[in-house]
Parts: sequence; structure tokens; C-alpha cells
Amino acid sequence: MLECVVFHAAREGTGSSLLTANTAAILAARGRRVGVVEANLHDGGLTLLFGLAEQRIGATFNDYLLERANGSAAFYDVTPALPQAGGRIWLSPASSRPRDLATLLQTGFRIERITDDLFTLAATLQLDMLLVDTHAGLQEVSLLTELSFALAQTLVLVLRLDQADYQGTGVALDVARTLKVPQIVLLANQVAAAFDPVNVKQELEATYGAKLAAMLPYSTDIAAHGSAGLFVLRYPKHPVTLLLNDLTSTLSQRPNSLAT
Ligand SMILES: Nc1ncnc2c1ncn2[C@@H]1O[C@H](COP(=O)(O)OP(=O)(O)O)[C@@H](O)[C@H]1O
Ligand SMILES: [Mg+2]
Repeated sequence: MLECVVFHAAREGTGSSLLTANTAAILAARGRRVGVVEANLHDGGLTLLFGLAEQRIGATFNDYLLERANGSAAFYDVTPALPQAGGRIWLSPASSRPRDLATLLQTGFRIERITDDLFTLAATLQLDMLLVDTHAGLQEVSLLTELSFALAQTLVLVLRLDQADYQGTGVALDVARTLKVPQIVLLANQVAAAFDPVNVKQELEATYGAKLAAMLPYSTDIAAHGSAGLFVLRYPKHPVTLLLNDLTSTLSQRPNSLAT
């Protein structure tokens, strides 16, 4: 059965796009077939990370939601050069054109239809995994968040160790539990070296009642790399890449290995 992992953060700039893209790259490097959905209509940055040129983009994920394009037209093969053959990545990019966003907000879309359709498309493309990157926070385009959470077998709530992230993470967790997302995990990103990892893990897990899937340091190498492509492929031996490899293994295990 297709596994769907959704990345969500309460605030922009937390790292959900970086994590989505690099997890996809690791899965593809392991020979898996991965679909990536940019469910962020405020320019989530995935096209940059995967190097999908604007000229190549016809139909977007918005068109798909609005039933203006079928799924296969809105997904683009963005498979990077991989050390081992077999892996594949298809990306469905969002349109950040204000008019497209406004149309989507006015018209809405049918969650059940899209969910069924995405699973059919995944079967056609023979996907092993579907990764979804969401927009930050739950205030806007809530239908899209609802769709993303409805698709998720695993929801990864990404947060920084920052007071401003804590409340929004709690709100997202409540919504996800109400929507009965089967598995919810936390991921602490951009963690400063001053924090004690053992304490952080204990405190986060006790506060939110969810397991911490990974803790990634603030990395000046990632910052310097910017969003210029897939970090894990560029730096396969980097310590953060090794942590992301472990995270990917955890996320691709059958559910409940992460149960609290
Ligand atoms: N662990 C990290 N260390 C340093 N910089 C990071 C880290 N994670 C993400 N970044 C950087 O933070 C910025 C925001 O990341 P991004 O994935 O675009 O966030 P989001 O999608 O949540 O808005 C990017 O420039 C990214 O390279
Ligand atoms: Mg983003």
C-alpha cells in the first residue's frame, strides 16, 4: 500500500520544504518511486529545490485541484542524477500566481475526489511513497490543510525550539488528532548546539504526547547551500545527511514503529 508522509510546520522558514525534498531524494537514491505534492500555494520553493524550470511547467497542482487538468499532466519527472538506477521522483508544483490562488479559495475543491484520484494516480505511476509539503500554519487555505492531513498516514510536525513555534505546533497537533491522522511525529529542526538533546527529546515528547522522529542541528552548510538543489545528493557524507538518512528509514518503516 502507498505510504503518504506529510510535512507541516506552524511557521514559514522552519524547513518543511527542505525536509520534503531531501527525503524524496534519499528515497529515490534507494531505488524508490516517489511522488511529491506541493500543497503550499504561497511558493513553497520545491521547484527550486528540484530544479524544475518554470518553462517546463504547464498544469500545476492548483489546476489539478480545480479539475482543470488530470493528475498525470500536473506531475513532472524531476528525477535527479542518482548514484543507483531505479529511483524516480515526480513533482506536482503549486502555482503561486495570485489569480490562481484566489480562484481556488473561491471555488474550493472536493477532498474525497482528490484523495481517491491521487491514490489512483499513485498506482498508475507505481509510486512507493507520496510526500506532501504543506503551507505553514492553519489560518489560510484550510481546505488544503484538511486535504493534506486526510492523505497522511504519517504527519511530521516540524518545529524550531522557539517559543513562537510551540503554540502553533500544539494547534496543528490538535487538528491532526481531530482528523484522526494515523501517526503523528515531531521533528525539531535548526536546533542550536546549546540545547541538551536528551532534555529536548524528553520535554517535547512529554509536552506534545508524540514521538520525536529526529532532531537536526542548525547547519551553516545547509544555510550556505541555500535552496540550490538537493543537499543530501550534493553532500552524501555530511552529518546532517546521515541524520536525514536515518529519518527516511524511520519514516518508511511500517506504521507504529513510531508509536508513543
Ligand atoms: N537545519 C537547518 N540548518 C540551517 N538552515 C536550514 C536548516 N533547515 C532549513 N534551513 C534553511 O531554512 C530556510 C527555510 O527552509 P524551508 O525548507 O524553505 O522552510 P519552509 O518550507 O518550512 O518555509 C532555507 O533557506 C533552508 O535552507
Ligand atoms: Mg516551504
